[in-house]
Amino acid sequence: MKKVTKAVFPVAGFGSRFLPATKAQPKEMLPVVDKPLIQYAVEEAVSAGITEMIFITGRNKRAIEDHFDKAYELESELEAAGKVNLLEQIQDILPPNVNCIYIRQQVPLGLGHAVLCARPVVGDDPFAVILADDFMDVRQGQPTVMKQMVEVYEREGKSILAVLHVPRESTRQYGIVASSPYMQNLEFVNTIVEKPEPSEAPSNMAVVGRYILNASIFDHLAGLGKGSGGEIQLTDGIAALMKHEQILAYRYHGRRYDCGSKIGYLKATVAMGLKHPEVMKEFNDFISELNVGQR
Ligand code: G1P
Repeated sequence: MKKVTKAVFPVAGFGSRFLPATKAQPKEMLPVVDKPLIQYAVEEAVSAGITEMIFITGRNKRAIEDHFDKAYELESELEAAGKVNLLEQIQDILPPNVNCIYIRQQVPLGLGHAVLCARPVVGDDPFAVILADDFMDVRQGQPTVMKQMVEVYEREGKSILAVLHVPRESTRQYGIVASSPYMQNLEFVNTIVEKPEPSEAPSNMAVVGRYILNASIFDHLAGLGKGSGGEIQLTDGIAALMKHEQILAYRYHGRRYDCGSKIGYLKATVAMGLKHPEVMKEFNDFISELNVGQR
């Protein structure tokens, strides 16, 4: 069985749900407490043993490349000022064995097209797809969601989609699967459709932004026309792949925050602030104060 060593991060999207904050900076650079969303996503991949980070970028996304690059000027300033902790933090953003590869998606034709742009680098290997605005938190000591999925992949060898039950009325925001039971937390996918109306949705089980895909997906993505919203959809590629290979839906352990939306981003910030060693005590006190004030 091939190991999963590559992750694709589609980061070319405009982030229009977060304007004006994302007018001049990528939505993936929005911080949750003190780290940008994309850094959490990359750290999750690293935790799963992934070493090749493939970013599918677009215009206005250079801040992402800079973030994972060496910052000579900043480093020498911090060193001169004796700020050793901060220096270490920015030097240790990536472990030394990790490579970053950037591919420009010249026209934003959709998520399926973004993933297809990674084909020359991914080749025949299985790979992860991580959508950085789906922020995943797990309990302390628990494996990250991507690590859980890599473990399943290395046992089963089949493409895997992370899934979550969502309210019926929300099906039009997600890829929705219908499935049949396989084993604990794991189902066989029977149907997948992108953003169905609640009345037409085959279930309320939604795909969230973590996938492990076999490279055979590329042939199917290459043949796709426009789907939902006029875009080339990853979901449609998966639906085509499903006719040839079994695909698994995995009910992961963890909590997802939709950081592409204001409310999801606020919730993630509060949740992470409440357990950030530097601010948790004061922040906890502040939240309790607010609660008391509201009574
Ligand atoms: C994308 C996918 C969708 C998936 C969602 C998860 O949609 O197309 O299938 O359910 O991510 O966040 P987007 O949120 O980019 O519209």
